[in-house]
Amino acid sequence: MFERMLVGSIENRITVGILAFVGMMILLGWAAINEGGRMAAFQQMEEARSIELGAYSYASNCSTCHGPDGRGGAGRAPALNNPQFFGHDFFPEITAEITSLRQEKTRLNLERGETQTTDARKTEIDTRITEIDAQIEGLNLQRTSGVQAAVERGYNPDRFDRLSNVGWVGTREAFVVTTLVHGRPASVSYWPQGGMVAWAQTAGGPLRMDQIEDLTAYILNWDKGDAWTVEDLFAVNQFAIEPIDPSGIVLADVPDAVGTDVAQIIADLATVQGDPARGDRLYHGTANPQRGGGVLGCSGCHLPDANGTGPMTAGTFTRASGERLQDPLLAGYTPDQYIVEAIVMPGNYIVPNFTNVMLPTFGERLTLQDMADLVAYLETQNQ
Ligand code: HEC
Ligand code: HEC
Repeated sequence: MFERMLVGSIENRITVGILAFVGMMILLGWAAINEGGRMAAFQQMEEARSIELGAYSYASNCSTCHGPDGRGGAGRAPALNNPQFFGHDFFPEITAEITSLRQEKTRLNLERGETQTTDARKTEIDTRITEIDAQIEGLNLQRTSGVQAAVERGYNPDRFDRLSNVGWVGTREAFVVTTLVHGRPASVSYWPQGGMVAWAQTAGGPLRMDQIEDLTAYILNWDKGDAWTVEDLFAVNQFAIEPIDPSGIVLADVPDAVGTDVAQIIADLATVQGDPARGDRLYHGTANPQRGGGVLGCSGCHLPDANGTGPMTAGTFTRASGERLQDPLLAGYTPDQYIVEAIVMPGNYIVPNFTNVMLPTFGERLTLQDMADLVAYLETQNQ
C-alpha cells in the first residue's frame, strides 16, 4: 500500500512535471510566434517610414530632374518609375525565341569557321543564317510595333533591362545606392544639361548614408513586378541614354586624371569639346570636378582684378598669347600649352612678380573634360 502510494505520487509528480513542461512550451511558443509577428510588424513600419522619408527627400532633391512622379525629365534625367529600370519584359515569349535564334546563329558561325567545315556545309550555314536574321528581324518588328509610342521616345524592347544594358551584375538596390553615393562622373558627357552628381557626404555630396538608404527604399517601391503595363511604359518622359561607347557609363569608378604630361594633355584635348560655361563654374567653385574632392578654388587666388594672390582672371588668355609668349623661356609655346602647363605644373614658369603658391596637384584633381572646360573658359578671358 505504502509502496503503491509512493509509486503513485512519483507518477503524479512526473505527470505534473510533464504538464508543466508542455504548458511552458506552449506559452513560450506562443510568445515566440507573437514576437515574430511583432517583429514583422515592426519591420514593416520601419520600411514604411523609410519609404516616407525617402519620398520627402526625393521631392526636394531629385524631382526637378527625374520628375515629381519619377517618370523622368525630358533631356534632363532618365525615368526611375519605369518598367525598363526594373527590367520588365513585355514580350517574354518573343525574347525567348530571339535568344534561341541568336544562340543558333552563334553556333553556326563557330562551325563555319572550323577548318573541317566543307564548302557545301558553309553554303547551308549561310542560307540558315540569312533565314535566322530575317526571323529575328520579324520578331523584333512585332515587339517594336507593340510599344511604338515608347520606341519613338528612345525605348528599345530588345534592351528592356536597364541593369543588364550597363553590365551591372549586382542587385538593383546596390545599383541605386552606388549611383547615389558616387554619382555618374562621366554622364555629363552624354547628358547635355548636366549629369548625375555624387550625393554621399563621403563623396563630397550633401546626404548621409541613412538618407541615401531611404531614397533607395522609395525608388525601389516603384517596382510593380509583373503588374507593369504598357501604359506605364508610355508614361515615361525620358528613357535612359546609352552613350555610343558603353564604357562611357561609369558606375562607381572615378574617371582618370589628366596627369602632368603637358604634351599628352594637349594631344588629348583635341579629342574633347570644352564647355566654357562649365569651365566658368569650375573656376568659380559652383561646379564640382568630375573626380570629386570638393571645388577647385581657382577664383580664391585669381580675382577678377589685380588684388589676388595669383594673376587676375581678366585677360588671362591675352597675357598667355601675348606677353608670356614673348618671354624667351616660353619660346615655341602655344597659348593653350602655356595655360595647361600653368595649371598642372605651376612651378615650371613663375609669372613675374608672383610667388609659386599655386598647388601642383591639379593634374591629379582634374579629368580631361574638366581641363577642356577650364581652358575653354580661360580662352574667353581675352579682353
Ligand atoms: C541635375 C539633374 C539630376 C538630379 C538633381 C538628380 N539626378 Fe539622378 N540622374 C541624372 C542623370 C542625368 C542621370 C543619368 C546618368 C547616366 O546616364 O549615367 C541620373 C541617374 C540616376 C539614377 C540611375 C538611373 C539609371 O537608369 O542608370 C538614379 C537611381 C538616380 N539618378 C537617382 C537620383 C536621386 C535619388 C536623386 C536625388 C537625390 C537624383 N538622382 C538627382 C540627373 C539628376
Ligand atoms: C593658392 C592660390 C592659387 C590657386 C588656388 C590657383 N592658382 Fe593659378 N596661380 C597662382 C599664382 C600665385 C600664379 C602665378 C605664379 C605661377 O606662375 O605659378 C598662378 C598662375 C596661374 C596661371 C598663369 C596666369 C598668367 O597670367 O600667366 C593660370 C592660367 C592659372 N594660375 C590658372 C589656375 C586655375 C585654372 C586654377 C584652378 C584650377 C588655379 N590657377 C588655382 C595661384 C593660384
